[in-house]
Amino acid sequence: MATHFAAQLNENPVFATVAKAAGTVGVRAYVVGGFVRDLLLKRPCKDIDFVCVGSGIALAEETAKLFKEKQVTVFKNFGTAHIQHGDFELEFVGARKESYRTESRKPLVEDGTLEDDQNRRDFTINALAISLNADDFGTLIDPFGGVQHLKEKIIQTPLSPDITFSDDPLRMMRAIRFASQLKFDIEADTFASIHKNKDRIKIVSMERVIDELNKIILSSVPSYGFKLLFQSGLLKEFFPEMVALHGVEYQDNKAHKDNFYHTLQVLDNVSQMSDDLWLRWAAILHDIAKPATKRFDKEVGWTFHGHEDRGARMVPGIFKRLKLPLNDKMQFVQKLVKLHLRPIALSKEVTDSAVRRLLFEAGDDTDALMKLCRADITSKNAEKVTKYLRNFEKVEQKMVDVEAKDHVRQFQPPISGNEIMEWFELPPSKIVGDLKDQIKEAILEGEIRNDRAEAYAFLVTLASKQGLAIKTKSITHPSTSL
Ligand code: CTP
Repeated sequence: MATHFAAQLNENPVFATVAKAAGTVGVRAYVVGGFVRDLLLKRPCKDIDFVCVGSGIALAEETAKLFKEKQVTVFKNFGTAHIQHGDFELEFVGARKESYRTESRKPLVEDGTLEDDQNRRDFTINALAISLNADDFGTLIDPFGGVQHLKEKIIQTPLSPDITFSDDPLRMMRAIRFASQLKFDIEADTFASIHKNKDRIKIVSMERVIDELNKIILSSVPSYGFKLLFQSGLLKEFFPEMVALHGVEYQDNKAHKDNFYHTLQVLDNVSQMSDDLWLRWAAILHDIAKPATKRFDKEVGWTFHGHEDRGARMVPGIFKRLKLPLNDKMQFVQKLVKLHLRPIALSKEVTDSAVRRLLFEAGDDTDALMKLCRADITSKNAEKVTKYLRNFEKVEQKMVDVEAKDHVRQFQPPISGNEIMEWFELPPSKIVGDLKDQIKEAILEGEIRNDRAEAYAFLVTLASKQGLAIKTKSITHPSTSL
């Protein structure tokens, strides 16, 4: 890899401008961190960190003047400043002797040299700097072999890992996140130190931990990151429910699947089909209640009856503890966990009414559910997989056919509760809801089509059996309005 980057820096006028500002302020300045790493990896990067030996704030203010940008956001306590320039987020900091903690409440004030600053960064590949100074513009400064580690695909701390991780325990998560995103190995001593210091993750806020976890989940083969989290012991510290899926039990010579590795396989499968974070979370949680529902039956072997319902009930508690959003995203995950067995169960007997019910319940999330189910078909036995997939495809086709005919995915009741109240002169009451429900049931069962006139005729018959008759004379009921 090259060690001189003047040509690349000159492609973006931002660097010449910061260099000029540094000259005016009289400080030595460098590009540092993630931008340099990504430049070497040829990955696009819009966040650029600058470090200078002196005041980062003064450098930011001078740079903003040259850019004619009015807004400089200054964090005086931390000696940092931020400018948004076009698509770029520019971050300025004075070199420090202390560690970079993105969320520390303690102000970091002690000035240092460039070397001090690089020493206190998280990984060798993130401690690379490129000079912006006139005498050596574009020269790479790589004190810890970061370039070699990029080539060898290694995550390693610049100092002894115990020191780097105790400076900021979140870095243990970051090590695994970078390994998973970049498909790198974690160097042996660095990994051993994560194992040793795993319980220190408790002092980090759950939001920051989950932020890193979500980046692992969004990497292209997330199982790799999860295996590292599991082997290092970190996963157990903040997500014990997932660790409980691990292991195989035998009785009467019968074993069940290892649900941890099965879950990871499902997660990887889903990740090949979709980048949706919440679909990936549904994969992670789809079997989460298997340990709690596991039973051994002499006749049938291992069972996990009801794990889909119990799992769906566990979702809010897990989301709350992990500080994930308690909103429609959670409801989506909950719905998929609850319904994940239904399409496969259907393949035994695909009736129109069962398909309609599933479409009705899954609604707009039907496609996501089908992706999860397809991903859930895993077995070491290739023949079994082929057979299940063939059955599954039959169900899928049936769902397309039924939806085209009956439109139940976005089910709107053909007759509203207000109309029922008006026609039969009923006050808001249970009977109104019951009548509406029975219309819906008749449609799902296929007794009538999802059609206003058919629903009206059905309603009149149904109501008359309960001694109710249409009262209103000037009604706009379907028999007159259609
Ligand atoms: N850094 C650190 N320790 C941390 C967080 C950040 O040493 N806990 C340093 C690293 O040098 C890192 C730089 O600060 O490269 C910028 O951090 P950040 O923006 O969080 O990460 P990036 O490396 O830029 O990567 P990404 O944008 O993928 O998060």
